This record gives sequence, C-alpha cells and structure tokens, in this order.
Amino acid sequence: MLNIGIVGAGNRGIRCYGLYIVKEKKDVARVSAISDPDKKRLEVAKKVLHLSDDKVFTDTEKMLKKAPLDAIIITSPDYTHRDIAISAFNKGLDVLCEKPLALTLADCDDILKAQKKAGKILCVGFVLRYNNFYRKMYEIVNVEKKIGRLILAGAIDSVSTGSQYFFHGWWRLRKNSGGLLVQKATHSVDILNWVIGSRAIRVYGEGGLAVFGKTESNTKRCSKCEIKNSCPEALLESNIQWDYGEGSVNIEVEDKCVFAKEIDVYDHEVLTIAYENKVKAFFVESQFTPDYKREFWFIGDKGRMYGIDPYIVSDRDKRKPYIEIVYRHTRKKEVIDVKLAPGGHGGGDPGVIEDFLSCCITRKNPLADGVAGRESIAICAGGEKSIETGKIINLR
Ligand SMILES: NC(=O)c1ccc[n+]([C@@H]2O[C@H](COP(=O)([O-])OP(=O)(O)OC[C@H]3O[C@@H](n4cnc5c(N)ncnc54)[C@H](O)[C@@H]3O)[C@@H](O)[C@H]2O)c1
Repeated sequence: MLNIGIVGAGNRGIRCYGLYIVKEKKDVARVSAISDPDKKRLEVAKKVLHLSDDKVFTDTEKMLKKAPLDAIIITSPDYTHRDIAISAFNKGLDVLCEKPLALTLADCDDILKAQKKAGKILCVGFVLRYNNFYRKMYEIVNVEKKIGRLILAGAIDSVSTGSQYFFHGWWRLRKNSGGLLVQKATHSVDILNWVIGSRAIRVYGEGGLAVFGKTESNTKRCSKCEIKNSCPEALLESNIQWDYGEGSVNIEVEDKCVFAKEIDVYDHEVLTIAYENKVKAFFVESQFTPDYKREFWFIGDKGRMYGIDPYIVSDRDKRKPYIEIVYRHTRKKEVIDVKLAPGGHGGGDPGVIEDFLSCCITRKNPLADGVAGRESIAICAGGEKSIETGKIINLR
C-alpha cells in the first residue's frame, strides 16, 4: 500500500489526483496526508478525501517530516515546485510534480540533481503523453514511420480559457508562473520534443501583452465589480470552461480583474526552435482565441501529418480529435479518428497517475519523466527570455 501525500489542495490536488486515488486506486494507494496553507481548502479536502484532522497540514515541511509517506504529488503553484520536490527527494520520497517542473532551467537541474542523488522516481504532469490522440501521433511518426524522415514540425495552442483563469489568478505574475510559455505551452512543447525525439539547441521568440492587463487596479475583483454583468471577461461560475473536466468539488477560484496593471505575463507568443537532429519547429500560443484547441503539423520527406485536439470550440461543442496524413507522391489522404479514454485531458489525467503509482511499485522510469520536464522548460523559459531580450537563446 503506497502512502501518498498531496501538496496543494486545489483543483489538481483534490479534483484530479486525490479523488482518483480515493475512488479508483484504493487497492494500491491511499491519501495519507495533504498540505495547503489555505484552511478553507483543507476543509474541502478533509470532506471529499475522507481525512481526519491529523492528516491535514498547513505547513508542507511539517507534513514531509511527520507523515509516514512513500511518495508525494505536488499540485501547489508553479513557483513552489522546486523547493518542495528537492525537500521530498532529500527525505527519500518518490515525486509526481505537476507541470511546469520548475520556473527556470537552473531550478529543473537542481531538482534532477536531488532526484539522482536520492535514486527516486520523478514523474511530471505531462498528461497529454497519456492521451490516445498524442500517443497515436507519436506512433505514426516514430513507430509506423508513415511520413518518412521528419524535417519540419509545428504547434498552435489556442487558449480560450486564458481569460477564465490565467489572468484572474496567481498565474498572471511572472514570479509565480514563469510566464505562460512556461506555465501553459510546456505541454504542447513537450509533445513536439517527444514526437521529434531530440533536444532543442536554439530558440527565438516574439510576443507581448496585447489584450489583457495595463489599466485597472490590482485589487479589483469580478464578484464585487459594478460592471460584472456586462463585462465579457467577468469570471462568473457559469462562464468557466474547465479544460480538464469538471469534478464534483466546488473550489473557489480567484476572480481578480484581467485588466490589472500588475499583469506581466505575455498573452501571445511565437517561437522558432532548432533541434539537434536538424528538425526545425514553430510554436504559437494565443490566450484570447474564442476556441480551445491544440493543433500540430509534422512534415517528413514522404508526407505530412496534421492533428487537431479540439476539446472545446467557440459554440461549446465538444468535438473529437482527429489526425490526417497526406502522402507526398500519391497525394492520398488518410484520416484517423482517435478514441479517447475516459477522464480529464482525454484520459491523460488518469494515465499519468496510473503510470506514477505503477512506477513507484515497479521502479521503472515513467513515460513523462524529469528529463522531459526539463527539456520543455529549456525551450519555454528560453522563449520567454528571447521575447524579453530580442536575442536568440542557445540552449546547449
Ligand atoms: N497537468 C495539467 O494539465 C495541469 C492543469 C492545471 C494545472 N496544472 C498545474 O497544477 C498545479 C496546481 O494547479 P491548480 O489549478 O490545482 O491550482 P490551484 O490554485 O487550484 O491550487 C493550488 C493550491 O496550492 C496551495 N498552495 C500554495 N502554496 C502552497 C504550498 N507552499 N504548499 C502547499 N500548498 C500550497 C494553494 O492554496 C491552492 O489551494 C500548478 O502547478 C499548475 O500549473 C496542471
């Protein structure tokens, strides 16, 4: 029986992983402790995860010292990941750390160093690797080799939920999230890295803040705002489109004004990336699109693959992902419908926790490991730096 500690009683900690362990994994694991400085969230955790008073902690270090744990799941805000992961490794625990692994490359390296010294498992919350749509794209390029030698690749993240949480909460400050390339794009950039099968050597970026931020007071809240009923950006519960499935737990979310002056993350970014294996890639992210989807292009010497994973489009339709391959010489087209597994992120949420728990038992390396977490941050944090400085960032 694995004793799991959860760090952060928020959406991911309770809704995604905590409830899954309690409901689906009770034969192999139990939630033995949870930490969060917010007592209101701990009350929710106690209720839905059936925890007694002695299993909840307002201080994470205290939990790591006192609770008898085998592993922890880090679902606290991004800026806390580094110190908590290192502390857990130093205490001999296995770690599932939500993405982004950390805010900077140096912090990722510190985590990997502590992991190596401890000889423990590190899994990163790259849930898309466990979703059948992304697995199929990986297989087409790397196992079936249908498009031949890969030469070009690209991805566009259209993020309608940008104004539903990123600009209303802690994510909107660079010191908390590292910027939205680090915070959000790290998923799709990881998919590029995985399918391309190489490490990036250079990144160049352009971007800015075009729609959000700039004018309003930092303390303004939607719930108390006089124009909340006419403002299209007001965060009212009825407007929220969760991109990882709704749970039965209602957790209060931050509703700060998306036009606050303090916002210092970009709302659109464009990257070009060069890889060691000579593949060249682009990445585009927009936080103000009407629809929520991820699109990918992979072009080889025998054909081109396009894949679209549209969770939610503007009319709130939930559509199915599909992959299209067109062969260069015959111009024949093949369309592949992908059947997603149940659960958040098209089955990716259950997938990552299943892999982590299984690796804790078998001691195998998870599919989404610490190196994958680091390589994605190399590009994303490098991209943020490139946008800021106007320079090409060399990553090796
Ligand atoms: N894999 C994915 O697809 C995915 C999706 C959403 C969020 N995330 C990541 O999951 C993490 C949590 O996101 P969320 O949406 O659940 O956020 P959230 O704000 O709902 O929850 C975070 C919780 O952590 C608590 N916290 C703050 N500091 C802490 C500390 N030092 N120790 C313990 N708890 C602390 C907060 O009080 C809050 O309850 C973030 O890193 C985020 O980037 C991943």
